[in-house]
Parts: sequence; structure tokens; C-alpha cells
Amino acid sequence: MNTRAFVRECAPKTQALFLVGFMGAGKSSVGELLGQRLGWPFEDLDLRIQQRDGRSIEQIFAESGEAFFRRIEHDALREVVNELGSNPRVIALGGGAFAQPENIQLLKSAGAPTVFLDGSVDELFRRCQDQGRPRPLRSDLDLFRKLYDARRGHYMSASLRVDTSGKDVAAVASEVAEALGL
Ligand code: S3P
Repeated sequence: MNTRAFVRECAPKTQALFLVGFMGAGKSSVGELLGQRLGWPFEDLDLRIQQRDGRSIEQIFAESGEAFFRRIEHDALREVVNELGSNPRVIALGGGAFAQPENIQLLKSAGAPTVFLDGSVDELFRRCQDQGRPRPLRSDLDLFRKLYDARRGHYMSASLRVDTSGKDVAAVASEVAEALGL
């Protein structure tokens, strides 16, 4: 969907905005800034998962495996969607959440706009490296690229794609806000 169509179809009924995309796309940092600018609360789905489970994402993967993580990720997302009301908010999803068909379906049936923050794989990989935070599914560049390629089709089903390559957090946040007509 192009920007004009996005504004026409989504912005008037926007009560929540979901940021999706691969690791290193800047979903949390853009989401936080966007929330501040719009005066909308920001939430990071991974934080909710950690609070509900009482373990870090890294521990959940190590002790219970990815399939378990995907189940509790879906439960947490369903909880967020059920809480959506008249107060708008910005929500950042973890990199794999919008690659699960049941989550895509959930967001589509909630009518919530989704923004795919994209970028070159090399840059995404480098940003993850610079952040230094442990990410269970980030290994070497080859596997990182393969995982990105496998997920891209799902990401492309988002309401809008914004290329973050070479842009800082503030520029991306402005672009998303502009696309929303806000
Ligand atoms: C994941 C990305 C992570 C986190 C988990 C799984 C993925 O979030 O949800 O490690 O499958 O790509 P970020 O995209 O914030 O790194």
C-alpha cells in the first residue's frame, strides 16, 4: 500500500500503531520517540512477554525453546489487542512476531495499522552488533540474511513499509508520523 492509500484507509481509525520488522530495524527506539511526539504511550511487546513470564527473552529461548516463546508471544499480543480501546498507542513487536501467520491474522482482524521498518541486511546486522544486546536468533551474517529473506514476504504484508537505511531514529519517526497524517 502506498502512503496516500495508507493515510486514507488507516489513519482516520488509527487507535494503535504496530511497528514490525527484522532485528535491528529500530522498532523500539522509533516507537518510543514516536510515542513521545504523538503523546501516545509506547509499549514494547518483548517487555510484556518478559514481565508475564518472569524471565528474559534470552532465558526463555535457552530454557524453553523458540516454539514456547512463540506461544507466549502470541498470548501477549492477543492481550495487547484485547486492551485496545479509544486511547491510541504505539507498540513495537519483536522481529519474529509479524512472521507468524496467526499474529498477522490477529492484527489484521483488529484493523490495526502495521508499519514495516525495513533496512539493508548489512545495516540491520551492524545495528544489532552495535547495540550489543543478546539476541537468540542473531548468529552469523549468512544465517541472519537467510532468516530475513524467509520473513520478508510476511513483513511486506504490513500496511506500510518505511526504509530506515541510512536514516536516524528521528528521521524514521518523522516519516512514519507523516505517513499517518499526524
Ligand atoms: C526475535 C527478535 C527479538 C525477540 C526475540 C526473537 C526474532 O526482538 O523478540 O529474540 O525472532 O527475530 P527484536 O526484533 O527487538 O530484536
